[in-house]
Amino acid sequence: MPTYIPESLEQELLDYGTEPMIRVVMMPKDTNYHGFIFGGVILSHLDLAASEEALKAAGRNIVTKVIREVNFIAKVEVGDWVSFYTRTEQTGRTSVTVRVLVVAHRGTVREKLFKVTSAEAVFVAIDDDGRPAPLLGNHPATTPKAGPSGAVS
Ligand SMILES: CC(C)(COP(=O)(O)OP(=O)(O)OC[C@H]1O[C@@H](n2cnc3c(N)ncnc32)[C@H](O)[C@@H]1OP(=O)(O)O)[C@@H](O)C(=O)NCCC(=O)NCCS
Repeated sequence: MPTYIPESLEQELLDYGTEPMIRVVMMPKDTNYHGFIFGGVILSHLDLAASEEALKAAGRNIVTKVIREVNFIAKVEVGDWVSFYTRTEQTGRTSVTVRVLVVAHRGTVREKLFKVTSAEAVFVAIDDDGRPAPLLGNHPATTPKAGPSGAVS
């Protein structure tokens, strides 16, 4: 069976590498009282996927600081196979900003793909006392974060 994927999504996926950070099949326990998947369930998986991405640059423990620009674009249904694609957008001294693209695969053989959510998450690397600490991981290919003066760190 041919796969259906909108051209705009195909283009967008090119920015995220080939494999999603995580994939999850949505179950009846994940629904709200309308019968669709609860947004909080999507957010929880999104946070997890983004944190795995941020760990690569942090190289140490991190906490979620901000999840923003969350855009729920289309409903997710029970039985959908949902992929969470991530990419590191920016790094600072202690923070890592990650973009997340969420794609649902629907149909008997997951033949229909469509974008369901996008968001941005900021993580802060922390020391053993829970205080912000410098990144220790690999982040050579990312855009440095501008400071308040516009200077990059
Ligand atoms: C994360 C935490 C340690 C950061 O403390 P803080 O006082 O904001 O620390 P700072 O002001 O030094 O900022 C740390 C970094 O976060 C960035 N940051 C802070 N607030 C931000 C915001 N609203 N948006 C984007 N970046 C932000 C800062 O720019 C800085 O980045 P840089 O070092 O790369 O320049 C503290 O807020 C905390 O413990 N929060 C609770 C975290 C949590 O429980 N998360 C949920 C479970 S994981």
